[in-house]
Amino acid sequence: MSFAVADEFLAPPPAAPPGIVVRGVSRAFGSVRALDGIDLEARAGRVTALVGPNGSGKTTLLLVLAGLLVPDAGSVRIAGHDPVTEGPAARARTGWMPDAFGTWDSLTARQVLLTFAAAYRIPPVTARLRVDELLATVHLTEFADRPASVLSRGQKQRLGLARALVHQPDVLLLDEPASGLDPRSRVDLRLLLRRLADDGCTVLVSSHVLAELEEMADDAVFISRGRTVVPTPVTTQSTWHVRALSLGALTTWLTSVGATWQPGDGSSPDGPGSVLMEVSGEAGAAALVRDAVAAGVPLTSLGPVTGSLEQAYLTLEEERR
Ligand SMILES: Nc1ncnc2c1ncn2[C@@H]1O[C@H](COP(=O)(O)OP(=O)(O)O)[C@@H](O)[C@H]1O
Ligand SMILES: [Mg+2]
Repeated sequence: MSFAVADEFLAPPPAAPPGIVVRGVSRAFGSVRALDGIDLEARAGRVTALVGPNGSGKTTLLLVLAGLLVPDAGSVRIAGHDPVTEGPAARARTGWMPDAFGTWDSLTARQVLLTFAAAYRIPPVTARLRVDELLATVHLTEFADRPASVLSRGQKQRLGLARALVHQPDVLLLDEPASGLDPRSRVDLRLLLRRLADDGCTVLVSSHVLAELEEMADDAVFISRGRTVVPTPVTTQSTWHVRALSLGALTTWLTSVGATWQPGDGSSPDGPGSVLMEVSGEAGAAALVRDAVAAGVPLTSLGPVTGSLEQAYLTLEEERR
C-alpha cells in the first residue's frame, strides 16, 4: 500500500503512462460544489482506491471520468483521451460499473451482456464467446438464461461487473462495487481486479468499506469535499495491539526497556491481556517480537489496531455531509 503523495522525489517510474489523469476538475449542482478543483492520477497496472466519506464527490468524479457528466472546469484524460471532446474514443476504453446497476426487466443476464456487446460493435460470434466467458468469471452461468430482474442484489452487481468488462476496457471505474456482495464474491472481485491490473488495466475503485479497499488496492487517493487530500502518512508509526499470556510479564518488560504503552484489555496482571503501543511498521513489530521472546515474555499476538487506510482516513479532518 502506498499513498498518492505528491512528492517529486518519490515520482513513480516513467514507464507506465497514467491511465487516468484529472487536473483541477470542478462540478457544481446548484450551490453544491460536488467537485472543487480535484486532481488525481491512477496508473495502468495498478488498483487505485478512491476513498472518502459520504458526499465527498466520489460518484460525481466517477461519472465525469465515465463521460456521463461534463465538468464545469478542469481536464480529464482517460488512456490519453478527453471524455468530453473525444467521447467515443474515451468510452471505448472505459468500463463503468455504477453503484446500482439497473437492468431491463424482460432481458436475461446473457441478453443484457449481448446487448452491450452489440453496442460496442463486437461481432456476434466473438460476443457470444466473450459473454459466456464473462458469465463464468462472475459465476452467473447458471443464471444466464433467467430474467435479470430476478437476480439478487449481489448477482446484479456481478452482472454489472461483467457488463463493464464486455469490451475489454483499458480503464475500469467501479463505484462501491463490493456493496451487496457476499464474502466469497468479494474475494472473487478482489482477485479479478488484481488479474485485470496485472494485465495492464487501470482500475479505480471507490468504497467506504476501508478494509476491503486495503486488501485490493495498491494506491489510495483520498477525497474530501470535492478535493484530493493528502492524509498524514501513517505507514511508519501506528498503534498496535500487543497481547501476551501474562499481562504483568508484558508490562514489566515494556517498562524495563523504556517503552511507552497504554492499557489494552485484561485487568489481572497474572492473566492474559494486551497493551496498545506505537510500533514502527513491520520492521518495528519484528524487533519487538524478537526482543520480547528473548526476554521470556509469553507473547501471543500483535497487529495494527486498524488498517493503514483506516488510520489515514481517520486523520482526515472531515465532516460528513
Ligand atoms: N444530481 C445531483 N444533484 C444535486 N446534488 C448532487 C447530485 N449528485 C451529487 N450531488 C451532491 O454532490 C455531493 C457529492 O455527491 P457524490 O458524488 O454522490 O458523493 P459520494 O459518492 O462521495 O458519496 C453531495 O453533496 C451530493 O448531495
Ligand atoms: Mg457515491
